[in-house]
Amino acid sequence: MSHLIARPVDGLSGRTHVPGDKSISHRALILSALTVGRSTVEGLLAAEDVLATAAALRALGARIEGPDAHGRWQIDGVGVGGLTSPAGALDMGNSGTGARLFLGLLATHAVRATLIGDASLSRRPMGRVLDPLAPTGARFEAGEGGRLPVTVVGSADPLPLETRLSVPSAQVKSALLLAALNTPGRSRVIEPVPTRDHSERMLAAAGAEISVTADPATGERVIDLIGQPELTPVDWAVPGDISSAAFPLVAGLLGAPGGAPVTVNGVGVNPLRTGLLDALDAMGARIERVDPRSRGGEPIADLVAYPGRLDAIEMDPALAPRLIDECPILFVAAACAHGTSRFTGLGELRVKESDRLGAMADALAANGVGVEVLDDGLVVEGAGGRPPGGATVATHLDHRIAMSALVLGGACAAPVVIDDAAAIATSFPGFVEVMTGLGAHFDAGRR
Ligand code: S3P
Repeated sequence: MSHLIARPVDGLSGRTHVPGDKSISHRALILSALTVGRSTVEGLLAAEDVLATAAALRALGARIEGPDAHGRWQIDGVGVGGLTSPAGALDMGNSGTGARLFLGLLATHAVRATLIGDASLSRRPMGRVLDPLAPTGARFEAGEGGRLPVTVVGSADPLPLETRLSVPSAQVKSALLLAALNTPGRSRVIEPVPTRDHSERMLAAAGAEISVTADPATGERVIDLIGQPELTPVDWAVPGDISSAAFPLVAGLLGAPGGAPVTVNGVGVNPLRTGLLDALDAMGARIERVDPRSRGGEPIADLVAYPGRLDAIEMDPALAPRLIDECPILFVAAACAHGTSRFTGLGELRVKESDRLGAMADALAANGVGVEVLDDGLVVEGAGGRPPGGATVATHLDHRIAMSALVLGGACAAPVVIDDAAAIATSFPGFVEVMTGLGAHFDAGRR
């Protein structure tokens, strides 16, 4: 395990960019593998989670090469329905998105494949995809409690799905859409609460017959997909990941008021991903969106975060699906804000790469921040400035706990140590370089 120390700094400033969006990168590879012909991906997140997806697709018959001298990846697809049984187990590493998307993908291919993962992934619930996939006719042999390893015996003669999601989860929705893709006829997925819609946008871009109807009164979305299309190759362009940009942006907000801002260029600002910006806005933060434009069918902008006073909030639980991955860093902002913040509606955090409610409560409490853990949230007593710091944080194989704790360290009175920096590579290779380039002070020296 490689520990890392974040030392207090007065603030960060400067301009940077972050790697490609993780959700979009997984999907770009998977959909490319299902087209007929050669697709390319520019800006792919070349981090462990996405590389695990690439390796799994190769094992299922797709050709994937990259990056070339221009940073582009090339994928030769096998067509919808063209995947073949792998020789060995498919190792999804730390990636819940990878595991769940492949369970859907394989459910309607006549293949037999076993999915495995690391200790964190092997604790996460898969029943949420296995249960709604059962009507396809696929068979799943799962570990205890529906956990990995899972062997999929895909259905050779799949039946269309009509499912109403019981968890607001883009992973579950996308698993069902991938299953529907190789199922004859029309499948329908209903999501009572909208979640990130990258799959829908990208399926349409590849020529799938997909329609999305939203009920303006309730927000409920009905997604219809006609199966077994011939998907056409796409030259994908991946926006910067707002879930990664969140770390330098919040670090920028926590500097001495009146200081210079942190700018992150080219960040995806899909409205279903920008709940963090709304929550921070409610706390009084100034984050400007500059030069709004689009990339690869997604809205992007440069985001500029100015240091200044933050006030506590009672977060609207309806924001949860739009900021679920950003909660750990939002709790760090709350720990430095004036007043006591209350976050609820966040039960899903318990089943992420770690139990993020428990992990962040422990991290903050160890560093002198008053916290109360709720079943579905946290109450955080803001220090109204620098929390004490000085403690070691257990990261539990969770990249976002690790990065949040390092941002906390920069904003505390005394350094914060993380027990293991390795997990950061699952989503944000270059995190340390990006942050130190803006003035953060991380080192592996004496604690
Ligand atoms: C993701 C969906 C979300 C998110 C995860 C990526 C995706 O998970 O937390 O990091 O790419 O579909 P859930 O579907 O579990 O909410």
